[in-house]
Amino acid sequence: MRRTLANKRFVVTGASSGIGRELAAQLVAKGNHVLALARREERLQQLAQQLNDASGTLAYLSGDLTASDFHNRILEWTNQHWQGSVDGLINNAGIGSIGRFAESNQTAVRQVMEINFFAAVELIRALLPALRQGQQPVICNIGSVLGHAAMPGKSEYCASKFALHGFTDALRMELQAEQLDVVLVSPSTTRSEFFESVIHGAHPQTRGMSAAQVARQSLKAIERGQRERILSSGGRLLVLLDRIVPGLLSRAITSWYQRQTVKDGE
Ligand SMILES: NC(=O)c1ccc[n+]([C@@H]2O[C@H](COP(=O)([O-])OP(=O)(O)OC[C@H]3O[C@@H](n4cnc5c(N)ncnc54)[C@H](OP(=O)(O)O)[C@@H]3O)[C@@H](O)[C@H]2O)c1
Repeated sequence: MRRTLANKRFVVTGASSGIGRELAAQLVAKGNHVLALARREERLQQLAQQLNDASGTLAYLSGDLTASDFHNRILEWTNQHWQGSVDGLINNAGIGSIGRFAESNQTAVRQVMEINFFAAVELIRALLPALRQGQQPVICNIGSVLGHAAMPGKSEYCASKFALHGFTDALRMELQAEQLDVVLVSPSTTRSEFFESVIHGAHPQTRGMSAAQVARQSLKAIERGQRERILSSGGRLLVLLDRIVPGLLSRAITSWYQRQTVKDGE
């Protein structure tokens, strides 16, 4: 369904930096009311101060989204301030993990799955009754092109985003009869703090879309009630090749990865 993004109540996760911060700021600039969530309270506070004169409002709660007691606090907040009614939930918080599976460990894969997948799923579960009370309600999950096409050296991250993709597609069909939209946005490489906080293999990224562009495109997808939006032409090409010539793509990526591994080892 098409919706206007004005005077709506949105919960946005991962709003202390990158894409989530831009999503929150752009929603507030359009006159919406946002509950911004992340662990770094000072960042959320700064954002709230910056948006003081905007037409919408920003409130925040700081906490770890992988902890169920934080979900209870979020629920209490929405009950108290929004009378138990939420118009939109954007699950954006996430972390990366780069490196070969053989050199990783159980803690890393669980950490990635906890925030990129389970936190989103459980927050949807907690807020579903409130979303059912909302106006033109929508759930938007921020996935990745790596939730459509796999990449060596990122097995844990791919697993979390493929899981989120499958879950989102199934949930969309389940909620369609209730007029509750479920949107999947899949960005490609985006300039943010993401590459500084990856579990291992951290490297700063200077290529890719800006977080502001990704947020703008995501809000467009929400406004139009799109099923999914894959961002960047490179991302769309990768996903298309994976669908039509998966063997060819896999061979090309494998040989690129092997050359890369040899180069890195030199
Ligand atoms: N950057 C890219 O190239 C790229 C590409 C495709 C998809 N994505 C996806 O886009 C989303 C946003 O990434 P970004 O690029 O904006 O990265 P970012 O700048 O690192 O932002 C990540 C956000 O997630 C929050 N977060 C992480 N773990 C959390 C936890 N346990 N509890 C609460 N909040 C948590 C962080 O806040 P605190 O640290 O303050 O908690 C931060 O606000 C992610 O889901 C990512 O997978 C990114």
